[in-house]
Amino acid sequence: MTSAGILDGKVALVTGGSRGIGAATALRLALEGADVAVGYAHGKEAAEEVVRAVEARGRRAVAVRADAADPAEAAGVVHAAAEALGGLDVLVNNAGVGVIGPLETLSLTEVDRVLAVNVRAVFLASQAAAALMGEGGRIITIGSCMVQRVPGPGGTLYAMSKSALTGLTKALARELGGRGITANLVHPGPIDTDMNPADGPYAAGQAALTALGRFGTAGEVASTVAHLAGATFVTGAEFAVDGGHAA
Ligand SMILES: NC(=O)c1ccc[n+]([C@@H]2O[C@H](COP(=O)([O-])OP(=O)(O)OC[C@H]3O[C@@H](n4cnc5c(N)ncnc54)[C@H](OP(=O)(O)O)[C@@H]3O)[C@@H](O)[C@H]2O)c1
Repeated sequence: MTSAGILDGKVALVTGGSRGIGAATALRLALEGADVAVGYAHGKEAAEEVVRAVEARGRRAVAVRADAADPAEAAGVVHAAAEALGGLDVLVNNAGVGVIGPLETLSLTEVDRVLAVNVRAVFLASQAAAALMGEGGRIITIGSCMVQRVPGPGGTLYAMSKSALTGLTKALARELGGRGITANLVHPGPIDTDMNPADGPYAAGQAALTALGRFGTAGEVASTVAHLAGATFVTGAEFAVDGGHAA
């Protein structure tokens, strides 16, 4: 049994949908009625588990493998999702890597990898999605609270990569608005995932930097993504889901 949702009949692709914020987003979009392609790089079993959870909500789902660091795969995952589920209405650019460390320790290899996954892949997937989407398409990208406030040392590479998404999102909104396609950016604060566990060594300091004094959950980010997937007059906008990290 399924009930009517704001995304009934829509097809979504969530990159990095196998874990964390992406997995919660895939499930939330399914709850709102979407069929969901779950992108993953290494976590095949985890992605298939998310697929089963989406199917248990009465929606179609497929796991699609792509390494976002590879430009052909970054675009190819969009085509694979659309082919498997019959089109694409919502792209959630969620896959990302967090590399934090002192400036002098960040190697050229790391710089290239972070920019490839966090920036180039988002551009390429958005480009591929825009070519496929009809009127009313949605591109939602996951940025970071470090775009708005870098609270300490170690964030040069990660903050630089996520900051590029602001320009991309605003420019996409302008370029695609005439076709009724929106582009928006969500900035999570500290969220309890494998990337940033709430019991990790730097967790207490991060929680203290928020106004609410705690980590957020992946579901709290997913609910804002789902809202944007259904929103019709919001584009080129940035949303902090950060517990007041930027306040
Ligand atoms: N957690 C936080 O505190 C926080 C805060 C601000 C922003 N964010 C952003 O939120 C997004 C999700 O983060 P998360 O915390 O949920 O991270 P996570 O738990 O580490 O999950 C990362 C996801 O991205 C996928 N991924 C990683 N490298 C990939 C690659 N090269 N190609 C394709 N997929 C790849 C992973 O797939 P596999 O498992 O298959 O490798 C996984 O599904 C990221 O963009 C991150 O920068 C997170």
